[in-house]
Amino acid sequence: MRISLNLFAIFLLLILHHQSNGQNNPNITTGSTFTAGENGSLLSSSGDFAFGFYPISDTLFLVGIWFNKIQERTLVWSANRDSPAEIRSTISLTNGGLLVLNYANGTVQQISNRTASLGTMQDDGNLVLRDSSSNNVWESFKFPTDTLLPGQTLLSGGQLYSNSISDGNSKYSKGKFRLDMQADGKLVLSAYHFGDTGYWLNSLDDEGNHEVKLVFDQRNASLYLVKDNNNTIFSFPSNVPTPVEDYYHRATIDSFGNFQQYAYHKTNDSNWFRLWKILSEPCMVNAVCGAYGLCSSNDNETVSCDCLPGFVFLDPSNPTKGCHPETIINFCADHLFTGNFTIEAIQDSGMPYNEVGDYEIYRDVDEEECKKVIMEDCYAMAASLINRECHKRRTPILNARRTSMTKGSIFFIKVPTKSAKDGIQTKKKTNTRTHLTAGLLTTSSLTVLFRALALYYHPDPLRLVRREWNPIHQE
Ligand SMILES: *[C@@H]1O[C@H](CO)[C@@H](O)[C@H](O)[C@H]1NC(C)=O
Ligand SMILES: *[C@@H]1O[C@H](CO)[C@@H](O)[C@H](O)[C@H]1NC(C)=O
Ligand SMILES: *[C@@H]1O[C@H](CO)[C@@H](O)[C@H](O)[C@H]1NC(C)=O
Ligand SMILES: *[C@@H]1O[C@H](CO)[C@@H](O)[C@H](O)[C@H]1NC(C)=O
Ligand SMILES: *[C@@H]1O[C@H](CO)[C@@H](O)[C@H](O)[C@H]1NC(C)=O
Ligand SMILES: *[C@@H]1O[C@H](CO)[C@@H](O)[C@H](O)[C@H]1NC(C)=O
Ligand SMILES: *[C@@H]1O[C@H](CO)[C@@H](O)[C@H](O)[C@H]1NC(C)=O
Ligand SMILES: *[C@@H]1O[C@H](CO)[C@@H](O)[C@H](O)[C@H]1NC(C)=O
Ligand SMILES: *[C@@H]1O[C@H](CO)[C@@H](O)[C@H](O)[C@H]1NC(C)=O
Repeated sequence: MRISLNLFAIFLLLILHHQSNGQNNPNITTGSTFTAGENGSLLSSSGDFAFGFYPISDTLFLVGIWFNKIQERTLVWSANRDSPAEIRSTISLTNGGLLVLNYANGTVQQISNRTASLGTMQDDGNLVLRDSSSNNVWESFKFPTDTLLPGQTLLSGGQLYSNSISDGNSKYSKGKFRLDMQADGKLVLSAYHFGDTGYWLNSLDDEGNHEVKLVFDQRNASLYLVKDNNNTIFSFPSNVPTPVEDYYHRATIDSFGNFQQYAYHKTNDSNWFRLWKILSEPCMVNAVCGAYGLCSSNDNETVSCDCLPGFVFLDPSNPTKGCHPETIINFCADHLFTGNFTIEAIQDSGMPYNEVGDYEIYRDVDEEECKKVIMEDCYAMAASLINRECHKRRTPILNARRTSMTKGSIFFIKVPTKSAKDGIQTKKKTNTRTHLTAGLLTTSSLTVLFRALALYYHPDPLRLVRREWNPIHQE
């Protein structure tokens, strides 16, 4: 009886504490532990943000930080995006002062690496660990994943990585696009897997290396780049709704490789709406449809991925993973001749210039001549013809696309004829299993539509310096 009275008193005290200031205790001290599936989170004093186990399925969790008051519970940071933790995993601020994730299977992942005595989930979304002298020894803002929040800075050398394009438990895992605050002072978006040098970058007015950082200013929720001498060298668009503090804000590299700023009215039960996106057309993103894919978009919001003629999807359930040849052909084999191939043309489509594999340009040629150029070179796979310039391309074809920039250009690709394929398959004594797989893939390849984020706001066209793909004004 006495025990339950005591418990009741503690309970009352807790309630009173909550009511007295209407705030949560955002602090954890050494020895604190959270358990996935049980008491999984630490709220900031306002309750706007939470740190802890973010459920991604009934049994899997990410150690993360999320907007806690909105229905979407939008995740903004994660410590284990590629290795979700199972139920009964724990997060501890150990007695030794380190923040660690103890997976249920016994694996330990160290999150911080300097001794702390207190952790605070701040109202700006930053989880800060401090030592006994109140020095900041670790903060989540220094290790961003795909999102920046007001007050956060992407320092020189810092990077954001998109989430992957998938729906399952790997939805928050590291995807194929990166925003890189390079040491040379350039901010670059790239499909880094493919050794891509970038599909968007800000350009510095002057040459020479400067340390530059990307600042998300909390006073006006605007993003800009500042040099080491504190000069602003580039500002992102600034159509931020006011008063700024009535909204939640975030800037995110989305899973399709676009960098965008969003706002969300704090009290109106609304939704995230976009303030700007850095690329007006989703197919400007390199390799968004993977190797041998063809990107198009009907509305500049959703991405449609097709395979180039002669190719089939690697994973029909996710067309953005790219395509592989229907038949593996050595185009340079002795027994093959030009009669074994045809050249297919795709109107109003093309590829950006100066990429890996872009190896010869023929000027003042027509369609027939451009086709001939590919046909006669067994190493050539494709070409794009723009303004009578034929750009010959080797494999792989990463960035075939249909955008406003490729209007009027023609994309040519070399495809083996049926008899050539049959001949090759006979030669290799292809087993039926391979055949069947190919057949299945071809059928499924009719499912080409792939929806991107549904977005609600159409901003003004941006005036930004971006990597110029315009075939007419080649640099
Ligand atoms: C949390 O920790 C900070 C820093 O030590 C302190 O100022 C604040 O009062 C603590 N908040 C609560 C509710 O204990
Ligand atoms: C979570 O629950 C465990 C076990 O009930 C307890 O030891 C721990 O102190 C709790 N953590 C927090 C932060 O409340
Ligand atoms: C424990 O689980 C994590 C997350 O799934 C995984 O990364 C790790 O390899 C596992 N460890 C062992 C020893 O199986
Ligand atoms: C802690 O981690 C940071 C960032 O990864 C690293 O720069 C630093 O050297 C590490 N410190 C120690 C003591 O390991
Ligand atoms: C740049 O601004 C920061 C913060 O306001 C300040 O500490 C620093 O001294 C400034 N640097 C220069 C070169 O003015
Ligand atoms: C936001 O504030 C910063 C710092 O005061 C200023 O440099 C910048 O121009 C402001 N941006 C907008 C869009 O008001
Ligand atoms: C929020 O809702 C209030 C009341 O319904 C309305 O007056 C206000 O205009 C709304 N604000 C926004 C930004 O939607
Ligand atoms: C997509 O954006 C481009 C460039 O801003 C524009 O030329 C084109 O008309 C847009 N297409 C659609 C369907 O809105
Ligand atoms: C193409 O190649 C195959 C064997 O690889 C051969 O049987 C066929 O006759 C060739 N010619 C044409 C026009 O397809």
